[in-house]
Amino acid sequence: MHDPTIPSVNIGVVGHVDHGKTTLVSGITGTWTDRHSEELKRGISIRLGYADATFYRCLSCAEGDSYSVSATCPECGGKTEPVRSVSFVDAPGHETLMATMLSGSAIMDGAMLIIAANEPCPQPQTKEHLMALELTGITRIVIVQNKIDVVTQQAALENYKQIKKFIKGTVAENAPIIPVSAQKKINFSSLIAAVNETIPEIEGDPNKPPVLLIARSFDINKPGSKWKDIRGGVIGGSLIRGLLHDGDEIEIRPGRQHTIENKTKWEPIRTKVSSMHMGSKKIAVATPGGLTGIGTKLDPAITKSDTLVGQVAGHPDQLPPVWDKLKFDVTLMERVVGATSEQLIEPLKHKEPLMLSVGTAVTVGVVTGTKKNSVEVVLKRPVCAEVGSRIAISRQVGGRWRLIGMGVLTE
Ligand code: GTP
Repeated sequence: MHDPTIPSVNIGVVGHVDHGKTTLVSGITGTWTDRHSEELKRGISIRLGYADATFYRCLSCAEGDSYSVSATCPECGGKTEPVRSVSFVDAPGHETLMATMLSGSAIMDGAMLIIAANEPCPQPQTKEHLMALELTGITRIVIVQNKIDVVTQQAALENYKQIKKFIKGTVAENAPIIPVSAQKKINFSSLIAAVNETIPEIEGDPNKPPVLLIARSFDINKPGSKWKDIRGGVIGGSLIRGLLHDGDEIEIRPGRQHTIENKTKWEPIRTKVSSMHMGSKKIAVATPGGLTGIGTKLDPAITKSDTLVGQVAGHPDQLPPVWDKLKFDVTLMERVVGATSEQLIEPLKHKEPLMLSVGTAVTVGVVTGTKKNSVEVVLKRPVCAEVGSRIAISRQVGGRWRLIGMGVLTE
């Protein structure tokens, strides 16, 4: 049993641009995840956003009204008890930012698909994000029908029917559909109850060597800090298995790029864990599920501005292999989704560039060989991944990367 105040699961927040993902996360957690100045300027999320919440249950209210994120029940003012904590991964909904959404989906244990009730369903990225969840193997899904405050009851019911039709035959066919207003915080109790039931805690395998997918990296020092106050680089991500302890020696792969006599080489980075946080708590042992922030002894210049996103951390010499060529089995979809015209998907071609999402890494690979359902590519940037890993495949269609299928790494 996990400590209910430490996040034990990552919940993706996905859906079409402006359908209310960031507003919902902010309404539930009190954290506005759009902090990047460009995001504030353009009013859209560009990077992945993160925020944690602890779910509480009222000891006196009836089931439907009993969930909240507060130590005092908002319904009756009575006492509540903590049930569990979750981390939200808020993905951007703009069509040009699918790579970021796909990178985030690698660490999602389940997802909320946000659908605005005041637009016809499905919108292009509603479709593309659901497809991405399906291709990356995320089956625990709650559908959030948002913005019910701006539609009539009749229109909300009509939209509900459209949602039902859209999810028929997909991985979300039996997902609960919860009407809410993210902005007015209406019906959050039912939403939390549905999330609590649909997306359970992740146990992971504590006996295997740890594998942490890096989803963020930072330099946390303020400009002008004195040298003796400088703190080491910080990485953020999720353990997909194993445990990590404060003080552990760690390796990060593929690591750092060196160019010597026009030859590029990647060398693993070695360092030591100097502190760990999950949620707002300092922890001694990190467990799978939930986002972990790890302080290291690295020069912060190595970790600044998400430089290490897509890399993998674990114990030295115990990480999966690093590949500069990949061979994988491919399943292509029939049609391109996410664009207004849904063209047929042609087979992969020799020499064509593909955008490949492997774990949190996004890299470009050029096809060097195709045989039946198997493809070989040479990568522009190497990736660290296990045989059997899922690969989301995108190709250039009309000048944009579009998700066209998935692969499974064979060698
Ligand atoms: P991207 O991350 O850029 O894809 O957008 P998003 O899905 O995070 O949408 P965001 O939360 O930024 O909301 C978009 C707009 O919809 C904002 O102007 C919100 O105020 C508004 N909005 C969100 N939820 C609701 C709601 O429940 N009711 C109403 N009326 N407006 C809402």
